[in-house]
Amino acid sequence: MTQSEVMPEAAGELLRRIEQGLLEVGVIGLGYVGLPLAEVFCRGGYSVTGFDVDQRKVDAITAGRSYIGDVTDEQVRAQVEAGRLHATTDFDRLAEMDAILICVPTPLRKTLDPDISYVLAATREIAGRLRRGQLVVLESTTYPGTTEEAVLPMLAERGLEVGRDWFLAFSPERVDPSNPKYKTENTPKVVGGVTPACSKVAAEVYRRAIPAVHPVSSARAAEMVKLLENTFRLINIGLVNEIAVICEKLGLDVWEIIDAAATKPFGFMPFYPGPGLGGHCIPIDPHYLSWKLRSLNYFTRFIDLASEINRSMPMHVVHRLTELLNDRGLPLKGSRILALGVAYKRDCADTRESPAIDVMTLLAERGARLSWYDPHVSEFSLDGTPVERVPLTAESVAAHDVVLILTDHSGVDYRLVVDNAQLVFDTRNATKQLGTDSPRVVKL
Ligand SMILES: NC(=O)c1ccc[n+]([C@@H]2O[C@H](COP(=O)([O-])OP(=O)(O)OC[C@H]3O[C@@H](n4cnc5c(N)ncnc54)[C@H](O)[C@@H]3O)[C@@H](O)[C@H]2O)c1
Repeated sequence: MTQSEVMPEAAGELLRRIEQGLLEVGVIGLGYVGLPLAEVFCRGGYSVTGFDVDQRKVDAITAGRSYIGDVTDEQVRAQVEAGRLHATTDFDRLAEMDAILICVPTPLRKTLDPDISYVLAATREIAGRLRRGQLVVLESTTYPGTTEEAVLPMLAERGLEVGRDWFLAFSPERVDPSNPKYKTENTPKVVGGVTPACSKVAAEVYRRAIPAVHPVSSARAAEMVKLLENTFRLINIGLVNEIAVICEKLGLDVWEIIDAAATKPFGFMPFYPGPGLGGHCIPIDPHYLSWKLRSLNYFTRFIDLASEINRSMPMHVVHRLTELLNDRGLPLKGSRILALGVAYKRDCADTRESPAIDVMTLLAERGARLSWYDPHVSEFSLDGTPVERVPLTAESVAAHDVVLILTDHSGVDYRLVVDNAQLVFDTRNATKQLGTDSPRVVKL
């Protein structure tokens, strides 16, 4: 917005409410993204109300309990007791909010097409209650155009003019669960409004809670930023997974190669191979872009190739494991395999889209006898059937034919594992710290 452009009256009122510390913030969806965001906004001095369809989450917050690893019970309790954090399933209270941030899931359908039904459901809740002076921001990761093409028309039905009476923006959530250094509050916030006034209002709302705000020219640009970031990761992980396969064929240790390449102080950024892709973001988000581009008759070849390589990794792990057992005169069928780590990444409790699911499903289909251990996860099932969880003791490790390390959690006693296992197949280089050259430890 240029100096000569006059801010709409409703925007001025919203900005005044920020200055006076009166702004009411609503967060729809209190999951891995929504709860940390709500807590950060509380710390920024805002009064925050979280809306969720899950009564258990609402009850937990109201009781001062967290269910997300990156937010402590103390943090939730402090904000609830200070009267800054509330949670509810009563969507009528959306009408009281000045700013509403949508943080609901955006999964894929089985066909790899986007499922924006949660976004539409949340938007519908707002649409019936939208009033003059409100700001709505979509934070859920989605394809470029969603805010303008799907969210805006539903909210516009109210007859209010966007950019004058109310404001709409997209701001990608970039949280990296369990990252000890970068959290919601110290990760810059990219913001793009559907009009210049929308961008301005959204940027000011965020700035008080997250000081580094980076405005972009449109909501569509902000949507694309997030997809570039996650596509970048998808493709680099695909590349390094292929390098792992190449190194194996050449008889080289891929981990040594990456560590050496990473000594170059410019032009190289290390990515590491693994048993596959996991989590709610990297395996999913780039397909939102592919889908959108297919509708424009363009094929996203890099995304498709990297996805193909990453999706082949669980089977690659199973093939390697089968060979390792065969070398010891054991068939995969009937072998006892202890999967160490079932969360999709280090020091995280999230098992959504975890490669452990794919690897263990393939092993189960081939008749392997599975059990698992993960210090962060208490329940794990394959297709609804619970798999036996065992403690990580010298006895349990020794009782298995192989320990298959699928997640490199810190705080696991890898020395105990290596000293007692008959065989370790380490797909994450988790045993690196031991500096072991034991022939019983084999790496991806
Ligand atoms: N988890 C991450 O690391 C991460 C990082 C960046 C971006 N994102 C994106 O953020 C979005 C949310 O992801 P998440 O991991 O927080 O999901 P989540 O499943 O942990 O949380 C989503 C919450 O939304 C609630 N919900 C569903 N439908 C609702 C509705 N109609 N009204 C109110 N609440 C509803 C669910 O009950 C749940 O509590 C997704 O688009 C995701 O791609 C996630």
